[in-house]
Order: sequence, then C-alpha cells, then structure tokens
Amino acid sequence: MSSSGNLFSRVYRKTSQKQVQVLGIMTSPRKGGNSDVLLDAALAAARDNGAITEKIIISDLNLIPCQACVDVRDDGRCKIEDDFQKSYDAILRADSVIAAGPIYFGSINAQFKMLIDRFQCYWRAKYVIKSIDELMVKRGGFICVQASSRNDFFENARAIIKNFFTTVGIEYCREVFCAGLEGKGIVREEPNCMEKAAAMGEKLSQPR
Ligand SMILES: Cc1cc2nc3c(=O)[nH]c(=O)nc-3n(C[C@H](O)[C@H](O)[C@H](O)COP(=O)(O)O)c2cc1C
Repeated sequence: MSSSGNLFSRVYRKTSQKQVQVLGIMTSPRKGGNSDVLLDAALAAARDNGAITEKIIISDLNLIPCQACVDVRDDGRCKIEDDFQKSYDAILRADSVIAAGPIYFGSINAQFKMLIDRFQCYWRAKYVIKSIDELMVKRGGFICVQASSRNDFFENARAIIKNFFTTVGIEYCREVFCAGLEGKGIVREEPNCMEKAAAMGEKLSQPR
C-alpha cells in the first residue's frame, strides 16, 4: 500500500494488465458507519478484481461551499484553492466512481452537496463556455443508507447524484440502497447489502 498524504489513500496491486482506477467518495462524517462499511466492501471487491482504488473522505477535506463567483474559471477548475482541487483531480483521473453516504432529512447530506456544488465551474465550462468536450466515459455507482424505509428519500438522493454524475461525465450504472439502518456499522449484519456493495465494486472494476 502506498499513501499520498493524509487526505487520500491509494491501494495498488501488481498486474500486467492496465488497471482500472476506482475512486470511492465517502460522504458521511461517521467513519466506520454504514456507508463507510459498504464503500469499503465495494473497494475491497474492486481491488480483488485487480483495480487500483482510491478513497476520499469528505469530512477530512478542507472545503468551503461554492461562493457563486461571477468570474469563475473557464477551464472547469474552481478558483478557490482548497482541497476541492485534489478531489477534482481524483474524479477526473478515475475510470469508475463510487459515492457512498447517508440520507439526512430526506436527501443527501450537506457534506456531499457542498462538494457537488463546487463542480459548478465544470458545469459552466462544459455547457456554457464549451471548453470541455468530454464523453460520458466513466462509470458510477451510488451507495445510500437511511434509518427509515422511505423510498422517496432514496429517489431524492438518486436524482441529485444522477445530475452530478451526468455533469462530470459519469454514467450512472449501479446503486445499492439500504434502509432500516441507524446504529453505526450495523450494516455488517445485513449480508444482502454487503453482497450488493461487493458486487458493485466487482462490476465497476471490470475493464471496459
Ligand atoms: C442529521 C441527520 C439526519 C438524518 N435524517 C434522516 C432521514 O431523513 N431519514 C432517515 O431515514 N434517516 C435519517 N438519518 C439517519 C441516517 O441516515 C442513518 O443513521 C444512516 O445509517 C447513517 O449512515 P452512516 O452510518 O453512513 O453515517 C439522519 C441522521 C442524521 C445524523
């Protein structure tokens, strides 16, 4: 294992084939919580399948919310110099992205929304300035957990993640939604959820 600093961790495996790079984005502030456990299961399966994995824990990042600058950069990069720049690079270099997080008040949590909003520069460069001409070449998965059994909450979250993925050129391929989970890490007692997360990691680490 090699590390590139405190914020990101990368795991490499030796293989002669070109390795798929899978990025995990953990949006919960609860390390070892349900979304973290499921994301780790997905990333472990991806590594077992020969992929390089990388993980971002949003709550470890120094991030401020989008400031709606009028003079945002034309190349898709945000002009605010904080850890967004590393997150941006990590997403751009990934072949597959798996985002994992909890439902808070019926939607994705603030930590995740804050990161997503910072991609407004990318949206502007792609759709307004047209300086980015990317095809939807990346694959994406979304893992979401909640305490209740409200499907409409998952649907709210899915709509936001699909919009985000589309903006940054990620095809929404797979989702794992697990309801009825409140205590930290209790998803370990739900083999069905654990298996689905591993299957997502295995699928999204296959070469195209
Ligand atoms: C601020 C906050 C708001 C929450 N809102 C909801 C909610 O609207 N619906 C729900 O089912 N669970 C809600 N939950 C419960 C979490 O979604 C649940 O505990 C989840 O398993 C936490 O995931 P984690 O362990 O990955 O952090 C909320 C939890 C917190 C802390």
